[in-house]
Amino acid sequence: MALVERAGPPPRSIQPSTRELKLRDVSTSEAPGVAEFRALMSRFATGVCVIAVEAGETGISGMTVNSLVSVSLDPMLVSWSLQNASSQFDRYAGAERFSISILREGQADLAMRYASRADSQLRSDDFVTLRGGLPVVAGALGHVECTRWATYPAGDHTMILGEVADLDLAGQDEPPLAFFDGRFCRIDR
Ligand SMILES: Cc1cc2nc3c(=O)[nH]c(=O)nc-3n(C[C@H](O)[C@H](O)[C@H](O)COP(=O)(O)O)c2cc1C
Repeated sequence: MALVERAGPPPRSIQPSTRELKLRDVSTSEAPGVAEFRALMSRFATGVCVIAVEAGETGISGMTVNSLVSVSLDPMLVSWSLQNASSQFDRYAGAERFSISILREGQADLAMRYASRADSQLRSDDFVTLRGGLPVVAGALGHVECTRWATYPAGDHTMILGEVADLDLAGQDEPPLAFFDGRFCRIDR
């Protein structure tokens, strides 16, 4: 599986490292800082999703996230983490139902639209309605409809767990939109 940048310079491929592995000497070094932690976690490639809830004048609110985790099969649970500083914190932490749309390659502009403050860039034609009535992103790889199962305080974020109520694998054969090293990428199989 090759991870390839979406745009710009020629695609990067991941090569086995020939560099010596340098481990931190915990007996002498200082504790890691936030910048180091962020740099490390940026090396963890993820997919990109839009969480949507019913809200506002349009009946739709969407937020781009990459913190989605599959948590449990029985019951079927997923989690994502919401910044406590979000201007939409109450809306998302308080929603009894939410949808997750897994974005495909080609939806990076849409991802940026739902990473802007509140719903300032919302376009209702980005969304369609799933069987259960929740808005989901049109043309995404797949959708999950969740009911809130629990929320847990987690530092400067809140972990939101949802129980899967319904799902559809709309575009399962298309490449996903990935996020790696602070950039959107494409994954080729
Ligand atoms: C690739 C990507 C992943 C993101 N992941 C998260 C996330 O997991 N949790 C979160 O709270 N915000 C995440 N954000 C930021 C939110 O999309 C952004 O803060 C929010 O939409 C802006 O609105 P607000 O300031 O009103 O919260 C992510 C943004 C991008 C571009």
